[in-house]
Amino acid sequence: MAYLSCEYVENAVCFLQDSVMICCYALSIGYDGLCISDHYFGQEIDWEKVIEIKQKFRDKFSRNDIPKGCSECPRLKVKDWKNSDKFNYILINHWNNCNLKCIYCYTRDRKKEFKKEKPYKIIPALKDAVKNKLLTPDCWIDITGGEPALLKEFPDLMKFILENTTAIALVNTAGLNYSKWIRKGLEMGRVSPTISLDSGTRETYKKIKRVDCFNKVIRNIQKYKKDLDSVNNSLLSLKYIFIPGVNDNITELQNWLNLTGDLGVTNLKLEIEHEWYVKNRYVPDYIKEFIEVVKDYVHKNKCNLSYREHLVHYGYRDEIHYIDNGLWYNHN
Ligand SMILES: C[S@@+](CC[C@H](N)C(=O)[O-])C[C@H]1O[C@@H](n2cnc3c(N)ncnc32)[C@H](O)[C@@H]1O
Ligand code: SF4
Ligand code: SF4
Repeated sequence: MAYLSCEYVENAVCFLQDSVMICCYALSIGYDGLCISDHYFGQEIDWEKVIEIKQKFRDKFSRNDIPKGCSECPRLKVKDWKNSDKFNYILINHWNNCNLKCIYCYTRDRKKEFKKEKPYKIIPALKDAVKNKLLTPDCWIDITGGEPALLKEFPDLMKFILENTTAIALVNTAGLNYSKWIRKGLEMGRVSPTISLDSGTRETYKKIKRVDCFNKVIRNIQKYKKDLDSVNNSLLSLKYIFIPGVNDNITELQNWLNLTGDLGVTNLKLEIEHEWYVKNRYVPDYIKEFIEVVKDYVHKNKCNLSYREHLVHYGYRDEIHYIDNGLWYNHN
């Protein structure tokens, strides 16, 4: 039956610091998210119960009873949902520790506290889901945080995903700590890392990330990319978050574009800083012009371009794909 719903309600499960959710997109735009369990710290999961709760949400959406936080979500679409109990998207976002201090990050004022954090183990839940055949063959496992490359479980988690599933691991990483598992996954065409540089120069990078590690991150990007074929190469993305008053000038953007060209990065992502957007709820005209500059670059250099959450919310949904690597973010 066709009705208004989203891939998350239908087919996703998201592990957060102390809860399991349907998605955390609503949280990021200032609403309560849809919750599966509000008290989760790594205990064994009753998958039948999870499936039952998810079915209740599906039923709600099928009656057109759309929760407030979802009502303006760009991910809603009318579709003949198949009501499968399998997951095609799993978010792992259960810890906050990180060695950068990005000016825009929610972790910025709680670094000491997050450094002491002992996250629950995520591999047992994933193993159990795999054992119960709950992952679709084309599942995306989205790993974020905190800095995934610092997570103690990260090497074992990546090994498990690469060896025991056919999923693609999406990894948001600062790129400061090199991971041989990210490199291995890139060689296998199974990992898609995103590094948000937000700058094209060491000076601006330092202003945003508040660590002087631009050159090290660039060297790590070069190591990740070395000798990959063009499809696997396109799995590595660089992102530019427009931060009003900080990097919203054409010189910095042009430096970033030149850098992506020099590095041979062919997958670009754009976003607008979340706190600014949630407060203002629009995209200024001059940033729209910058986005056109990036689009021209992408067409000229036959790259891929996608937009992340808040630009999607504003209406930027037409991704550009010159290299078919199967990752169509906003078609998900
Ligand atoms: C919280 S970080 C965690 C993963 C990793 N440490 C990293 O930076 O990629 C996840 C993603 O959210 C982005 N992000 C964090 N705070 C943001 C904000 N205020 N506005 C837009 N994007 C933000 C980061 O750039 C990163 O791509
Ligand atoms: S409609 Fe949007 S906010 Fe609601 S569950 Fe789906 S993705 Fe999340
Ligand atoms: S690298 Fe990621 S987690 Fe760390 S401060 Fe920056 S955005 Fe936050």
